[in-house]
Amino acid sequence: MIVVLPVVAALVAMLAPVSPVAPVAVSGLASAPTVAATTCAAKAGAFTWGFKESFRAYISGSIANGEWTTAGGIGYATPDFSSDQLTGAVRLDALAGELAVDGSIRFTGHEGILDTTIADPRFVIDGSDRLVVVVDVIGTTQDFTEVDSADVPFLEGDLAAAEWRVDGDTLVLGSIPVTLTAAGAEAFGTYPAGEAFDPLTLEFTTTADCAAAAIESRAAADRLPLLVAAGVAIVGAALGGGIALLLRRRRRAASAPSDDDGAVGGSIPV
Ligand code: HEM
Repeated sequence: MIVVLPVVAALVAMLAPVSPVAPVAVSGLASAPTVAATTCAAKAGAFTWGFKESFRAYISGSIANGEWTTAGGIGYATPDFSSDQLTGAVRLDALAGELAVDGSIRFTGHEGILDTTIADPRFVIDGSDRLVVVVDVIGTTQDFTEVDSADVPFLEGDLAAAEWRVDGDTLVLGSIPVTLTAAGAEAFGTYPAGEAFDPLTLEFTTTADCAAAAIESRAAADRLPLLVAAGVAIVGAALGGGIALLLRRRRRAASAPSDDDGAVGGSIPV
């Protein structure tokens, strides 16, 4: 046990957060996650996203003969929709919070029969693994049911599978894989829940140090299962060794001659 304790302490130290922070409330969020009162927060950022390549091909191809237009803070340059006008609050030591932009993407086709607008995307970060893209959806489903739904949790993203990197003063989470949620499937009305949309890139404007700290927090989260497994193995081995020692002592004590069977000198203390 004496050997185990420092090892466990070292494991715990490796999991410690990069910088201690005092939480403050983020306004404008239903769930009100907290943002650290630290310089390691982002209040601005950018996104780059193709939406869904097959949908763009369908819209601009000979079937729908359509187009898309953007408005507000969102623009388009082949093959991506983008905005560098995201604002909000995201703490970066352990990602939480949201960035959003007022703007829209309007898809039209089939001479106006298809007319769907995706508006005001909010990129909600829930821990270092989970992204939810919340949007307003206005239009019709493929079978012409009218839709006008605000704040639809449209897509879910896996931040652990993103490419984390520092680019100057920016933390970049590149190529975040995203899939359609059940609510998104209902609002969009064609693709099933779980359908992959184009990977999304998010950028958080911060400092080079904070971006590096965020990446270190992410790396610590990746190390967690390995460290827990190592800790369990070490503690298990120590306990196993202790039990084996105890059993050996008992066996020796049991096999040692006692006064009852007439041995001279009695048992030897172990
Ligand atoms: C005149 C009405 C419409 C016609 C004739 C039509 C026809 C089609 C056809 C033929 C396809 C298959 C395209 C392919 O396999 O390449 C398709 C796909 C699709 N349609 Fe429509 N459609 C209509 C209206 C709508 C509406 C109102 C929506 C609403 C959003 C919609 C959404 C879609 C989607 C999402 C796909 C799948 C595109 C992909 O491959 O990712 N359609 N449609």
